[in-house]
Amino acid sequence: MKDASPQTIYLSNYTPPAFLVEKVELTFHLNPEKTRVVSKIKFIPNPASQSGEFFLHGENLTLVSARIDGQEVTPTITETGLTCAVPNAPFTWEAEVEINPAANTALEGLYMSNGMYCTQCEAEGFRKITYYPDRPDVMAPFSVRIEGPHPVLLSNGNPTGAGDGWAEWHDPWPKPAYLFALVAGDLVNHPDTFTTRSGRKVDLNIWVRPGDEGKCAFGMEALKKSMKWDEDVYGREYDLDVFNIVAVDDFNMGAMENKGLNIFNSSCVLASPETSTDMNFERIEAIIAHEYFHNWTGNRITCRDWFQLCLKEGLTVFRDSEFTADMRSAPVKRISDVIALRGRQFREDNGPLAHPVRPDSFVEINNFYTATVYEKGAELIGMLKRLVGDDGYAKALDLYFDRHDGDAATIEDWLKVFEDATGRDLTQFKRWYEQAGTPRLKVTDDFKDGTYTINFEQETPPTPGQLRKDPRVIPIAVGLLNPNGDEVVPTTMLEMTGAKQSFSFDGLAARPVPSILRDFSAPVIVQRDSTNDERAFLLAHDTDPFNKWEAGRDLARDVLIGMVRDGAAPDDGYLEAMHAMLRDDSLDPAFRALALGLPSQDDIAQTLHETGATPDPQAIWDAGQTLRQAMAQKMQDTLPRLYAQHQVSAPYAPDAQQSGDRALANAVLGLLTRLDGGAQAQRQYDAADNMTQQLAAWGCLLQAGKGDAATAAFFDQWQDDRLVVDKWFSLQVVHADPADAVETCARLTEHPDFNWKNPNRFRATLGALAMSPAAFHRADGAGYALLADWLIRLDPVNPQTTARMCTAFETWARYDSTRQAHAKAALERILETPELSRDTTEMVSRILG
Ligand code: ARG
Ligand code: ZN
Repeated sequence: MKDASPQTIYLSNYTPPAFLVEKVELTFHLNPEKTRVVSKIKFIPNPASQSGEFFLHGENLTLVSARIDGQEVTPTITETGLTCAVPNAPFTWEAEVEINPAANTALEGLYMSNGMYCTQCEAEGFRKITYYPDRPDVMAPFSVRIEGPHPVLLSNGNPTGAGDGWAEWHDPWPKPAYLFALVAGDLVNHPDTFTTRSGRKVDLNIWVRPGDEGKCAFGMEALKKSMKWDEDVYGREYDLDVFNIVAVDDFNMGAMENKGLNIFNSSCVLASPETSTDMNFERIEAIIAHEYFHNWTGNRITCRDWFQLCLKEGLTVFRDSEFTADMRSAPVKRISDVIALRGRQFREDNGPLAHPVRPDSFVEINNFYTATVYEKGAELIGMLKRLVGDDGYAKALDLYFDRHDGDAATIEDWLKVFEDATGRDLTQFKRWYEQAGTPRLKVTDDFKDGTYTINFEQETPPTPGQLRKDPRVIPIAVGLLNPNGDEVVPTTMLEMTGAKQSFSFDGLAARPVPSILRDFSAPVIVQRDSTNDERAFLLAHDTDPFNKWEAGRDLARDVLIGMVRDGAAPDDGYLEAMHAMLRDDSLDPAFRALALGLPSQDDIAQTLHETGATPDPQAIWDAGQTLRQAMAQKMQDTLPRLYAQHQVSAPYAPDAQQSGDRALANAVLGLLTRLDGGAQAQRQYDAADNMTQQLAAWGCLLQAGKGDAATAAFFDQWQDDRLVVDKWFSLQVVHADPADAVETCARLTEHPDFNWKNPNRFRATLGALAMSPAAFHRADGAGYALLADWLIRLDPVNPQTTARMCTAFETWARYDSTRQAHAKAALERILETPELSRDTTEMVSRILG
């Protein structure tokens, strides 16, 4: 839907709602093309508002009738809603509208997926269901009646009645409309129960399409673990008689925390050893936890307006990371989170789409469900916790739940509870929420007369609309090691507040080796001239697992940069250090698998760009291949032993220990394949009885150019499992040679199973291309052109997914002029498309700058 003049919305223009809602009653008469929605809403004038103006949001609705206190009225209807003269006193609004779920391909509001009805209302989808003040600071209890010929009829809250062709639900907890949900269809459930710590029994269900019942058990266990963890760690108990989860195939995002009725992209809940990888299992556990944790951080306490999105998302991501760290390995979780943060958030923060964790303006809020709001938002909570300590954090959170239960709150409210609970002034800390961009932390050091001094200097480059940056408070965790490898100063939290600041440690016998920013204590880029010897030393001796990993990563980055920029050969010091690390059986296999990985191609491109060089994506890819080959050769005697040693003989379990062994063995298989041409990978493929082993082996074969037989066999085996078929589409692009990945991708879009209107399939295919830098940034512009063609096609069908995938282009300006010209042409072609959505218009305009 083209909006003639997209409006920019500003945080500074916030005004309280003119009317509050005391209660809502909704009746749905379901029909694929003509669903009738009857609403009865009790409005009361808001004492906190002077406006008195009655406005209800509404889009793509056909109003059948409207009444106020029983009297028929004729509202003024616009593209975005309606206005009407109303009494200056409490009144009852009744309306009937007609909507068309079958025609709703945008997957926002009420839509259909494989014959089942479902909803997605966050952020502003409820206005496509009925006329309503669709803003998060209007909270009300909802009663819902659903009428339709479906065996399963679900909504939020507790069931209050059901019969043939109808069901009624009541949600006693006041909530904003974005948390409304409805599901209807021919579904089957995987039931269980959970008894809360105060002894209330809660019915749990995972609802899926018939045939998927066998893929629910893992998700159910994850749900019960999450419920227990939130009681144990945050003291938060569940507050309804039922908790329902539904899996749908057509979904724009991962999942949604609707009160008592979470709706999941089926890829984020369905799991079985045969069809899901270890990584899938871990991700599913985390997402189930995330959505469950929203019940308190998001639902009981919600956001006043969408600028405050990080209030619920940053906190909930932080909580789900803590949960995963508790359930599995904390260091491995931390390292994986930082890899993801650098891959997505640093990239965003250092490009045209940079925005503060709490943005101060937007055109389309769906474009702000970003790595910055989510992942950097979570990092800010981690920093707060480091600054006030574990006890301070626990006190602040208790106060937050006490003080704001039932509120639509702000970042100011959030920071105030920390100030009140700990007595700490957070004025400077707030800059982390307001200033975009990743601080650079320059580090130098001196040693004299037993005193070691570290000097820090912070600077944040300008970002769009924010040229000047003020110094932020940065918690810097530091430890010092003796030249013999012993730790002389254990982890100490330094608090940097100025633009430049020094810290001293005295009484040292020799110049120590510093381990800086342990556990990645702040989301900054450390800049320090360090030697490869020092890095190899830290890789061998650092007691902080994150920095141990980081030392190897820094080494690899330098080596790759030297290879790309100066044509250097693979550095033998690096190969030695990696080999030693790999053979150290005292190290967690999962850690070793991570340490064996190279920095991403995008990371190398960004680093080169920062040093003033123009990155060549093909040269970066080539360097990675050369380095991998050198690693394989260097370690050739070790690889077969390691591979054999880490085969899992016990029955498959997706736990941390087994997945660590498989991750290491499969990382080793990747190197082995470079030596044996795929013989071992083929054996693994043929013997595999779980998806982790099968997919890893097929990936190796593809990379070796020996994948054709496995590709055919894989499709043959899995063609009826849509989530596995997504993997089939994706991996062929991911592991294609950059020279023909574009053609591979284009060929796959002609496959009969390329259902491009399904976001998972679209992302599996085109998204895989966007994530392969050498292919996507191919010098002739073919990658850009193919993606642009498909984004133009998808936009009228699904603006949200289109806009999100435009981020593939966000790094275009760092490349050479030929590539830039091709990228710019592709972006302009998208922007010139008639009737382009507001979502995509905003994204492409910002990317073009
Ligand atoms: N609140 C959901 C979650 O993080 C995400 C919903 C995103 N929806 C959207 N339209 N952008 O769990
Ligand atoms: Zn969330």
